[in-house]
This record gives sequence, C-alpha cells and structure tokens, in this order.
Amino acid sequence: MPNIILCYDFSAVHTSDAADKIGTALSFFYPVNVLDVFHAVPESFLAGDVIVSVVSTWHEGQLPQAWNESVPMLQTVSFSGKKVAFCGLGNGDEYPDFFCDAIGFLADLFEKNGGTLIGKTPAEDYHFHHSVAKRGDEMVGLCLDYQKHRDKIDGQVKTWCDELKKQIES
Ligand SMILES: Cc1cc2nc3c(=O)[nH]c(=O)nc-3n(C[C@H](O)[C@H](O)[C@H](O)COP(=O)(O)O)c2cc1C
Repeated sequence: MPNIILCYDFSAVHTSDAADKIGTALSFFYPVNVLDVFHAVPESFLAGDVIVSVVSTWHEGQLPQAWNESVPMLQTVSFSGKKVAFCGLGNGDEYPDFFCDAIGFLADLFEKNGGTLIGKTPAEDYHFHHSVAKRGDEMVGLCLDYQKHRDKIDGQVKTWCDELKKQIES
C-alpha cells in the first residue's frame, strides 16, 4: 500500500482548503500523512512513496515564503523511487503571465532530484498566457483558481485524484 505525504503550508488559507479536499479524496485509498513544509526536514520525506505538494503562487511568479525558505532543504532531498505530484493555486485572470508558476519551479526541482512526475493536466483546461508550470500541451499538475473558478474546484479535485490513483498504481 503506497504511503502518501501531503505537503503544504498549513498557514495558507486556500492552500489548506485544497489540501484538505485532496487528502480526504486520497485517504479513501491510501494512508495520507500531512506535512507542514514550514517544519519539513529531509527525513520528513523518507516514508513517502508518493509526495503530493499543494502550493500557491504569489507576487508575480514567486513561491510562498514558507516554500521559498525550504528550497535549500528540498535541494538536498532525494526523491528517487518516489512519485511526485503538484497542485497549484493561482489566478490566471489577474496574473496571466505567471499562472501557477510555483509548481513549475518545484516540479523541476523534485524531478532533478529523482522524482517521477505524475498528475499532469491539459493546459487547455485553463485560461492564462504564460506559465512556468506549462510543458508542451500540459501543466505539471492540477491548477486551482479560488478567485474566479471556485465552483469548479470540488470536481477538479475529484477528477485529479481519480487519475492520480491510476498513475500511482501503474
Ligand atoms: C499579491 C498577490 C500576488 C499573486 N500572484 C500570483 C501569481 O503571480 N500567479 C498566480 O497564478 N496567482 C497569483 N496570485 C493568486 C494566489 O495564488 C491565489 O489568490 C491563491 O488562492 C492564494 O492561496 P493562499 O492564500 O493559500 O496562498 C496572487 C495573489 C495575490 C494576492
């Protein structure tokens, strides 16, 4: 039974709401352990077969502070043998040139350190102009917009978690 680590900034409001929804959906199938990135150390990731990170983007393409401060620590973590997935929070109408950039930076980092990326979504599902999280026709993860598309979030999370389950087990 794969062990999931759900990593996010516990102090971020929308992020915590999204992480709760994702954790609830995945916990029907797997043990889910939550990890506050603010307190994470390299050993925090050891027990995870799948690392699901939930991260908003701030200030025109920046990581939130807790994630930004964790980057030097994350650069020392080996994600080899682990599957990694990302859920980004952003606003493609207000920040169309930086939509959910944070998960793009983090996906690059986690993959560089050996992680296998799962949970990509079609870029055509979103409205934006440019994003670091876009690779070809896909985004590196699920993107949620709490400002303009809150009504879609429950459905997006369910569809994504169903797809994650398939990719976790393949
Ligand atoms: C000052 C400010 C800057 C933002 N910058 C971006 C951005 O560059 N890209 C983006 O996609 N969303 C951006 N957003 C939208 C946030 O990511 C979005 O509001 C998100 O839901 C915040 O979640 P949190 O409160 O859990 O951190 C910004 C929001 C604010 C208020």
